Amino acid sequence: FDDSEKASKAVAHEIAALIRQKNKEGKPTILGLATGSSPKKVYQELIRMHKEEGLSFKNVITFNLDEYHPMEPDSIQSYVRFMREQLFDHIDIPVTNYHIPDGTLTIEKIPEFCRDYEAKIEKLGGFDFYLLGIGRNGHIGFNEPGSVINSKTRLMTLDITTKIDAAIDFGGLEKVPKRAITLGIDKIMQAKRIVLLAWGEHKAQSVAKAVEGPITSDIPATYLQQHPNTLFILDETAASLLT
Ligand code: F6R
Repeated sequence: FDDSEKASKAVAHEIAALIRQKNKEGKPTILGLATGSSPKKVYQELIRMHKEEGLSFKNVITFNLDEYHPMEPDSIQSYVRFMREQLFDHIDIPVTNYHIPDGTLTIEKIPEFCRDYEAKIEKLGGFDFYLLGIGRNGHIGFNEPGSVINSKTRLMTLDITTKIDAAIDFGGLEKVPKRAITLGIDKIMQAKRIVLLAWGEHKAQSVAKAVEGPITSDIPATYLQQHPNTLFILDETAASLLT
């Protein structure tokens, strides 16, 4: 796409069509969502469609990729807060229908939480659609370089590139949490459809490696090459290093 605005609208329209189709079938739509700058305009367009076109999220169930640990849900950097401000508080999704990893858990409770998060997704039959971003280091979710293809939902130590990119939000590198809870690659790969968004020149290198490079745990997004129904939605600059 020429720019992220047009691209985001196209993605939001695909999600809306899926929700409407599932509603017709009397089935819930199971969506996987990301935070960060990449999906913001998609969420804006979904809100607009809710307000102006009656698009309802009453039968939508969502699971977010990740949350920093430790993190209080009302903190300025919290992904719970981000999702509420950017999407959930502006649509008619029931509060019980959205799920975000819990950054307030003690370390001992995290494994059980992660197993439960995956069990809930499985019980619903997995994701109909997963919306992803990509890190400059090729991460998806907080599945950092080194993550294996069948990795489960877990506490992950953040990579230095991720921390550098988050430093501005936390007011300094030393204030960025060392860890985050992330959905594993395994559940992402089981989604029926994956759409990855990337905007800007700073993403061009990881996008080129993800699409055209050899599949490697060094760039977890390369695993998506093995997924049968993944689309990368890029603006011109993010696509600029593709051959
Ligand atoms: C966000 C997430 C991350 C981001 C990625 C890109 O929930 O899991 O993988 O999608 O770091 O971030 P932005 O979109 O801010 O460039």
